[in-house]
Amino acid sequence: MTDDWCAQPERWSLHDDAGVVVADFVQVRGLLRGHDFWWAADLRPAPGADPAVAAAAVRRSLPGWMAELRVTGQEDSFARLLLDASLSRGRYAHHYVWDFARRAPDPAWSEPALPPDLTLVPPEEVSPRRLHRVHRRAYPRTHPDHPAGDFDRLTQLVGGALFGGLLGGSAVALRGRRPVAGIMIGQENGDSSLAASVLPRAGHSVADLALSGPAVVDIFRDPDDAPPGLGALLLRRALALTAKEGEPSLSLTVTEGNPARRVYERTGFTHSHSTVALRLPI
Ligand SMILES: CC(C)(COP(=O)(O)OP(=O)(O)OC[C@H]1O[C@@H](n2cnc3c(N)ncnc32)[C@H](O)[C@@H]1OP(=O)(O)O)[C@@H](O)C(=O)NCCC(=O)NCCS
Repeated sequence: MTDDWCAQPERWSLHDDAGVVVADFVQVRGLLRGHDFWWAADLRPAPGADPAVAAAAVRRSLPGWMAELRVTGQEDSFARLLLDASLSRGRYAHHYVWDFARRAPDPAWSEPALPPDLTLVPPEEVSPRRLHRVHRRAYPRTHPDHPAGDFDRLTQLVGGALFGGLLGGSAVALRGRRPVAGIMIGQENGDSSLAASVLPRAGHSVADLALSGPAVVDIFRDPDDAPPGLGALLLRRALALTAKEGEPSLSLTVTEGNPARRVYERTGFTHSHSTVALRLPI
């Protein structure tokens, strides 16, 4: 059974009783394990629309749909109204970007001083099984991004099937032959059809697909076997190398509740927006 997925590139509008546009979204149709499903991705109230009227139009027009919306803050009453009415909630994700045109990363980050017993190699040179052992320790069952610790996803990611061939900032830190940390930089729009069929099952959001360009598609450190701060070191190295490769930016997505968010903010990434996935009431 093949999974399929298609997004209509144009935005669809929702109207109030008087025919005025009060919200819009990107319509995504998917076939997942034989079942048709519809997503309203990047669902937004129209500028100036009354949030209550916009939310009512959404509920009336899209009963039972999965939706993903930008959350602008505590005071976002459009999101609040839909969240309160939702049948279930999916990922609450925060999207970050480092725009190299605004601020260049320090070129010296590309050659960090590593602890003497560690070496860096490209991820393709490491056995996926060994990599997966570290991955599992970094993403225990209770971790907010736990589904990302799936073996098949990791193998596809390293093989380039999810986000295209990995970029030069990707690396695995080895102690001897044992991996202790890793970072993967991929193209967020690498192979969108394959990524799209896998991402929802991996707990990722439709909005991830709307991001484009180089992104940190995975970063992890063995909590017991690698020094704290090694993740941030790999991240800074990836920033310097991605900028050196002439790319315009590096982005990443982190789930609410993951303390890694603080690492990204301390390193200098800028929060671009947050999204939440939910199922609208029937
Ligand atoms: C993200 C990561 C690579 C960063 O590595 P690092 O730069 O070496 O940073 P550390 O792991 O030492 O610490 C990051 C923060 O998480 C906290 N933290 C780390 N492990 C934790 C745990 N098991 N429980 C709670 N907090 C934890 C640290 O205290 C630190 O908080 P602080 O910023 O307030 O000091 C690493 O934390 C990791 O592997 N996390 C699990 C995988 C993950 O979430 N990846 C990111 C997906 S978006």
